[in-house]
Amino acid sequence: RVCRAAYATAPSLNPVIEQDIHHFSKILPSTSVVSTLSPVASPASDLDQFNNDWMGKYKGQATTVVKPKSTHEVSQIVRHCWERRIGVVPQGGNTGLVGGSIPLKDELVLSLANMNKVRSFDPISGVLVADAGCILQSLTDYIAPHNHIMPLDLGAKGSCQIGGNVSTNAGGLRLLRYGSLHGTVLGLEVVLPDGTILDQLTTLRKDNTGYDLKQLFIGSEGTLGVITGVSILTPPAPQASNNVILALPKFDNVLPLYKLVKQQLSEILSAFEFIDRTAYELAVKHGQGRALSDEDVRGAACFVLVETSGGRREHDEEKLNHLLETLLEAEKPLINTGVLSQSPAQFSSLWALREGVTEAISKEGKAYKYDISVPLSSFQDVVDGTREHLRSKGLLNDSAVKHVIGYGHVGDGNLHLNVVAESYSPEIQAALEPYVYEVVASHRGSVSAEHGIGSMKTHALHYSKDEVSIALMKKIKEIFDPRGIMNPGKVLP
Ligand code: FAD
Ligand code: MLT
Ligand code: ZN
Repeated sequence: RVCRAAYATAPSLNPVIEQDIHHFSKILPSTSVVSTLSPVASPASDLDQFNNDWMGKYKGQATTVVKPKSTHEVSQIVRHCWERRIGVVPQGGNTGLVGGSIPLKDELVLSLANMNKVRSFDPISGVLVADAGCILQSLTDYIAPHNHIMPLDLGAKGSCQIGGNVSTNAGGLRLLRYGSLHGTVLGLEVVLPDGTILDQLTTLRKDNTGYDLKQLFIGSEGTLGVITGVSILTPPAPQASNNVILALPKFDNVLPLYKLVKQQLSEILSAFEFIDRTAYELAVKHGQGRALSDEDVRGAACFVLVETSGGRREHDEEKLNHLLETLLEAEKPLINTGVLSQSPAQFSSLWALREGVTEAISKEGKAYKYDISVPLSSFQDVVDGTREHLRSKGLLNDSAVKHVIGYGHVGDGNLHLNVVAESYSPEIQAALEPYVYEVVASHRGSVSAEHGIGSMKTHALHYSKDEVSIALMKKIKEIFDPRGIMNPGKVLP
């Protein structure tokens, strides 16, 4: 387990006690309060799923989880916690990768799982309004018959919630095409730390009436309030989608390839995703997608998945085929081969090779995940440099670090540098930090491109944000949450 010192800086808060359980039981039905305390007295194991994160890296000691069904119930619970100075950790699907959804100590976990209703969908404007606890995949399924798609997609879609996505400002696999949630989220309903309901749940695209307060909650990781409702603009489903995996002989070809692909595919390009050879091999080893043929992988240093989404199949296929011809017939080809999907099943299988890397890594070992923004030209140097650094410390061997891997969203300049180890150990941690963050800072990059700060990176925030920015962030926190009850110890150092 990773030791988290951040709590030392959190304000002094009170633990949940039996009287609080009595109070929660007046607001909620008994099935919506899970606690080891009387009068509920559930076994501690009932809290395991809320006290442990997806990677098995962070562990909380919450005694109590509440699962409100309505905004009013959330408001009543939060107001009580405000009055009693009890820390509150909003929890969505608990798929976060930076420890943000796990209590640092024994804060109350407020799960949004029971707030799972679609409130409205307008098939003309494509605006969807949903409770924050709706699972991303269920929203995708809900709007599919109307020929709309969610503007974001990520490997955790079967578990993550739209409120969690907004709170982390999740990026994912469609950001290149549809932009970030800062653009697609139109409105939010939020319960503020004192229980007040902030209703900014507009369904209109344009609103220039001063400060855009909802933006503060997008990416604030539960530190400013509990998001209870989300209004989001969903794009029409593309009429045709294709994908191809390109095998490259060396990383240096990724940049010129990206330039060429953008030029040739222009408006139909919808994803340009990168996996290095090790990431590919782990995906195959752990059953994510079908392996490419031996011939297709021979001599490949890395792979790029290109997706197109457009309005007319013939037009898109013509463009994609032309791109492949250009690539393969070039005097100095940038790629060795390209595997074009020929059926919906193969389309999904090619995506699984990229999307399944996270899952594959978690099956292979314990992951140190660095989700960074650095210039695309330095992706490989960052991965190779980290590997060499670990080797120089004598840590690159089967009983310590097994793999150093690079994959990610090339189109967004977002590299996922993952170090897969036999176990989490202080020695590896010390070798990686601040090393990785210093490398990021030397490129003026970001220590978190899309996963957030959580509790993992509070100490590293200053590598990407200057003193003035951090001081302003603290002032904003103070305005919204002067008692410091909302997700204490997260985001801010
Ligand atoms: P949780 O993990 O429950 O919470 C995350 C943070 O948001 C916490 O700080 C929590 O307190 C806060 N929070 C949750 N709900 C609310 C709410 N209603 N109100 C206020 N605060 C709230 N992330 C990406 O950006 N891109 C990816 O491509 C991506 N792929 C992933 C693939 C896999 C297999 C996994 C396991 C994770 C991936 N992630 C990715 C990380 C994660 O899925 C996202 O961060 C996701 O948005 C978290 O949603 P969640 O509902 O699980 O939130
Ligand atoms: C991804 O791009 O696959 C996700 O952000 C998850 C991860 O970094 O492993
Ligand atoms: Zn990602």
